[in-house]
Amino acid sequence: MQSEFACDVRAGLSKPQKELHSKYLYDDLGSALFDAITLLPEYGLTRADERLLIRYAPAIPREFSCVAELGSGSGRKTRPVLEALRGPRYFPIDVSCAALDRCQHELAGAAEIVPIEASYLDGLTHVAAHRNGDPLLVLFLGSTVGNFEPRCRTEFLAQVRSRMRTGDALLVGFDLLKPVEMLLAAYDDPAGVTAAFNLNLLGRVNRELDGNFDLRAFCHEARFDPNGHRIEMHLNSRCDQTVKIRRADFSCTLREGETIWTESSHKFAEDEIPPMARAAGFECETQWIDREWPFCESLWRAS
Ligand code: TRP
Repeated sequence: MQSEFACDVRAGLSKPQKELHSKYLYDDLGSALFDAITLLPEYGLTRADERLLIRYAPAIPREFSCVAELGSGSGRKTRPVLEALRGPRYFPIDVSCAALDRCQHELAGAAEIVPIEASYLDGLTHVAAHRNGDPLLVLFLGSTVGNFEPRCRTEFLAQVRSRMRTGDALLVGFDLLKPVEMLLAAYDDPAGVTAAFNLNLLGRVNRELDGNFDLRAFCHEARFDPNGHRIEMHLNSRCDQTVKIRRADFSCTLREGETIWTESSHKFAEDEIPPMARAAGFECETQWIDREWPFCESLWRAS
């Protein structure tokens, strides 16, 4: 029997535009590399997210005694929210066990922490079963919501809503449209950290599925699609090559210049957000915006 990862790799690399799903970027090494990305001067997104949370966490209604976070990562930016809510029960949900360990360490004392190693929706199903009667605030910080294709995004948000009750809230981050040069630098930094993060996906295929990708035979590429309002991340093949992935029982060829698409990061306009909330069963209550690095923290109420 092949793992889900093996099946997804096989299916993705069989498409005309080859692809590897971005959720596989975050193994333990990938999560550590992403933490390094958040420190890059060119990647202003996480700092904007943090500034907004520090500034506006005190404005979050106090009623939430239960908090769940989709993709907690190291948990650093969550502290002001937990402090404003005066030590709620906190369920960080992450697929990386190492990230959950760091998160527990980082937030010790700020909340009663119940880590959940699971995908977002499975984790939230678990929270729904263990929250008792407490009002729930779900955090979906950073800009992960921008990594979904538009159709999947609404479906995903509706799935999140279906695990919540009327009156619960979702605090979700949106990276806003900004000058293209800023975006390209953020997703293709000169120190090569983002390149390493992207290439690690091939390394992970090698490690977990006994693949023989030569990481040096690919280069990281970030492009802006002005029609789709999104940054696309690719791994570009430097030569004609054949790759074998034993545990997926699969091999494929790449031509020089052919790419494997690994992720898209959509950038939003402010006024796109409230209709998105409504389409998923929420009402947008408040938007907090950082002007230095245009970014929006949006608070939605489950209606
Ligand atoms: N959610 C992050 C974003 O869209 C993920 C990310 C940052 C990323 N840099 C990347 C994903 C580079 C792939 C490659 O901003």
